[in-house]
Amino acid sequence: MTSDPFQSTAPQIAASILSADFAKLGDEIGDVDRGGADFLHLDVLDGHFAPNISFGPAVTAATRRVTVAFLDVHLMISEPERYASKFLKAGASGLTFHVEAVADATQTARRLRQMGCRHVGITLNPATPVEKIFPALDDVDHVLVMSVVPGFSGQKFMPEVLPKAEAVKKRLRANQRMEMDGGIHKETIRRAQDAGVDWFVVASAIFDQKNRAAAIAILRGCLR
Ligand code: DX5
Ligand code: ZN
Repeated sequence: MTSDPFQSTAPQIAASILSADFAKLGDEIGDVDRGGADFLHLDVLDGHFAPNISFGPAVTAATRRVTVAFLDVHLMISEPERYASKFLKAGASGLTFHVEAVADATQTARRLRQMGCRHVGITLNPATPVEKIFPALDDVDHVLVMSVVPGFSGQKFMPEVLPKAEAVKKRLRANQRMEMDGGIHKETIRRAQDAGVDWFVVASAIFDQKNRAAAIAILRGCLR
């Protein structure tokens, strides 16, 4: 796994631990590391911004202890600035906040950077117009386009978000990346790539499979 996915322009597969077996998280991380995942995606849910509760800084710190991989922390939480420093202290490599959760995305992106966040991401829900994130694009390193409604892994891919990805792609600098999260599997990953996606977040299509290396190889085999 890589400690800095921005070094490459090649497509990258981020294993979301949301579908991992939390009773043996260290082993699960080792499995996807050996299995060829490029980095880890940590889906943080607070039960308020989204109707599920997953984990927080403590699990982020535990994950940090067992891998040098880039920890791509997706904050599906209200008040992301209130908790950002705790995730950074826990070892998050990048923090991605929801445009719906803040008053001024540009200010939030700048404040996260002032807190020491080296990789700032912005994300938007399927129902949010893509124009909402445009003002903040200069201040972020990557954009995450949600292809499901935040809350749970194993949901159905929403192809109606693909035009949003195409609109974002046109506006990204060469050193920025675009990520997609939700319902990514062998039937949908290529469509996401064709819409300009660089990084593919995958939870159930990896962790629900017995052989994670084979699952990741199948996904990679779908990409050009
Ligand atoms: C939504 C989560 C999920 C997860 C991906 O709350 O962000 O999208 O990462 O889950 P799968 O890959 O199972 O759709
Ligand atoms: Zn996510």
